[in-house]
Amino acid sequence: MSKPVYLDYNATTPVAAEVLEAMLPYLTQHFGNPSSSHPYGGTAAEAVHKARESVARLLGAAADEIVFTGSATEANNLALLGVARALAGAKRHLVVSAVEHPAVLEPALHLQSEGWALSVIPVDAYARIDPAEVAAALRPDTALVSIMHANNEVGTIQPVAEIAAITKARGILLHTDAAQSAGKIPLNVDALGVDLLTLAGHKFYAPKGVGALYVRRGTALRPILFGAGQERGLRPGTENVPQVVGLGAAARLARERLPAATEKLRALRDALHERLAAAVPGLLLNGHPSARLPNTLHVSFPGIAGRELLSRVAGQVAASLGSACHSDADAVSGVLAAMGCNAGRALGAVRLSVGWMTTPEEIDAAAAALSEM
Ligand SMILES: Cc1ncc(COP(=O)(O)O)c(C=O)c1O
Repeated sequence: MSKPVYLDYNATTPVAAEVLEAMLPYLTQHFGNPSSSHPYGGTAAEAVHKARESVARLLGAAADEIVFTGSATEANNLALLGVARALAGAKRHLVVSAVEHPAVLEPALHLQSEGWALSVIPVDAYARIDPAEVAAALRPDTALVSIMHANNEVGTIQPVAEIAAITKARGILLHTDAAQSAGKIPLNVDALGVDLLTLAGHKFYAPKGVGALYVRRGTALRPILFGAGQERGLRPGTENVPQVVGLGAAARLARERLPAATEKLRALRDALHERLAAAVPGLLLNGHPSARLPNTLHVSFPGIAGRELLSRVAGQVAASLGSACHSDADAVSGVLAAMGCNAGRALGAVRLSVGWMTTPEEIDAAAAALSEM
């Protein structure tokens, strides 16, 4: 029996063959601890250094601005809690958007429970933030604004550069969670104007369990873990060399493939949308029509719950309702609720996300299966 077509690349991606190949020697012969002063350590340290340079190049950053972490969740926690710890003497206010991933919302709520003030910026019907709303929320004691680059559920891309112009003028730090952007659209920290940026390996063909935080030179940041001082003391613990090498290889692949990959993803995604729109009267697109990740198609089917639809096509299509992390809950997605989506539309929503490995034949097969329901 053939496997269902995988249309859940926003949940996770397979490890690219080139990434696996780059990693394998660091699971076998090059097993040294990068902190060791003998050649085994030197080989590992050199590999971590090269991976750092590669990730930095993907972002237009310098190597010493990259901190490797165990996940995007950890990178987001380090950004929010680390800035809060560094600036707590003078500042006491944070700003996030209503459509952030729990890996940003939860540390923000944690800080709120510790006495920080928290402003949550609403979004419009397309899940877009109005930079003027961010400007209006800023206070003299605002330490950090954290606004995601692209939304994991509906794919809407936020006007991060416009927000950066506002925060910079006020001397306020800006973090963006770009876990969903890498490998899909070009990323540049100077064009975005951010001070901190989060990456997740497994969203762009590296393995799960590795991420990175870009930290602009001079940014006030304290560690949230304490130990032997690796990663300039910001993320102590023996480096996960194979995973870090994998992240570096994935960053190199993304650099080689973008921007052409963006157009390939967009063509596949749009073909799927056209097929579904023609076959399903009343199908509604969620998220911004143009300012949206090129691989993400979040649509509401009329008259059927997304959960029911996906269970009926489970043999042919593997997709999710929204965020993979909370797809067990029957509650309306927080993102759709923030967009003001009505209950029927939210219930019928399905997220279809294509990736580098998706083929036109898979799009045909998935469109046929979903159209029959
Ligand atoms: C926007 C965004 N941020 C953070 C994360 C968390 O990534 P991880 O679970 O790998 O830490 C995800 C994963 O879905 C995401 O989509």
